[in-house]
Amino acid sequence: MTVIAAHAPGRVNLIGDHTDYSGGLVCPMAVDLGTTVVLDRSRPLSDDGRPAVQLVSAAETEPAVVPLDVVDPASVSPPWARYVAGVVAVLRPAAGGRGTVTTTLPVGGGLSSSAALEVAIALVLGADPADPVALARSCQRAEQLASGVPCGIMDQLASAGGVDGHVLLIDCTTLERRPLPLPDGVEVLVVDSGEPRTLAGSAYAERRAQVEAAATALGLALRDATPSHVEGLSDAVLRRRARHVVSENARVLAFAEALTGGDLRGAGQLMVESHESLRSDFGVSTPTLDALVARLVDTPGVWGARLTGGGFGGCVVALTEPGVGAASGLAPTWVVHAAAGARLV
Ligand code: GLA
Repeated sequence: MTVIAAHAPGRVNLIGDHTDYSGGLVCPMAVDLGTTVVLDRSRPLSDDGRPAVQLVSAAETEPAVVPLDVVDPASVSPPWARYVAGVVAVLRPAAGGRGTVTTTLPVGGGLSSSAALEVAIALVLGADPADPVALARSCQRAEQLASGVPCGIMDQLASAGGVDGHVLLIDCTTLERRPLPLPDGVEVLVVDSGEPRTLAGSAYAERRAQVEAAATALGLALRDATPSHVEGLSDAVLRRRARHVVSENARVLAFAEALTGGDLRGAGQLMVESHESLRSDFGVSTPTLDALVARLVDTPGVWGARLTGGGFGGCVVALTEPGVGAASGLAPTWVVHAAAGARLV
């Protein structure tokens, strides 16, 4: 086949943020919004005659033209082409092609549009869809090369390994995934705060470095640390960062239990506690996100709400009774459903 197509979903994280890069627990789900890439491998040269991946996107004005020997993905232009370049630099395919990108995801809106793009591109360039962990690892590296942000593996693994109708409890030490069915009668609502995530990259790297410094100071992985270990840290900032990670790992487990037991009130309460921890101990919320979460939590029919993803703007996620999103008057909002992971189509 000379034409190959792949679809990769975006993701929303229900709970467990800033825990993936220290081997902790996360609970994302792949969503029914995603990105499709179609590549014609019978046209392996770009307009200027070089072996390349050349893609046009309905969401972008300029095409991505990435030579197969691209060296520095972060310096490629236009910016969306960096993600294409990241995947090319990691996979080093023997041949490229020309194709198209279409997406139903809000670009840069906090639903991991970049992870979906990377995963779909990796599949059309020959990555194995039957090995979601290897696929996610390659795409995590691609994202790091493209953006310069030392991200964890959650977004790419949620996109690569999603399970229809289920959220994924992921152990980021072993990369084991346990699919948990979403109970009937619950809706997952995503609300875009509209706040651009301008500080997100540099602040993310700073938080990650603080988490690593806390683990070094404790002499053990945060995954294995207890609250009393954390309270023994002498540096106040590192103590707060570690307190978030250790308490968040515990909340993810409690959330998984609440969800499987159908205890939506309990699950929602854990989401609210997660937001508070991300705000006060981890310092990645903003007044806009706090106000949005407070407004949602005060809305009848909302079980819980929290910022989702890296923070500093982006989206809020809520668990609600059906119909609450449509009636909330908030925009833009998406009611998302748990979808299967990336696949060739
Ligand atoms: C971003 C990163 C993920 C994860 C989240 C925070 O989405 O890409 O790896 O660290 O932030 O949970």
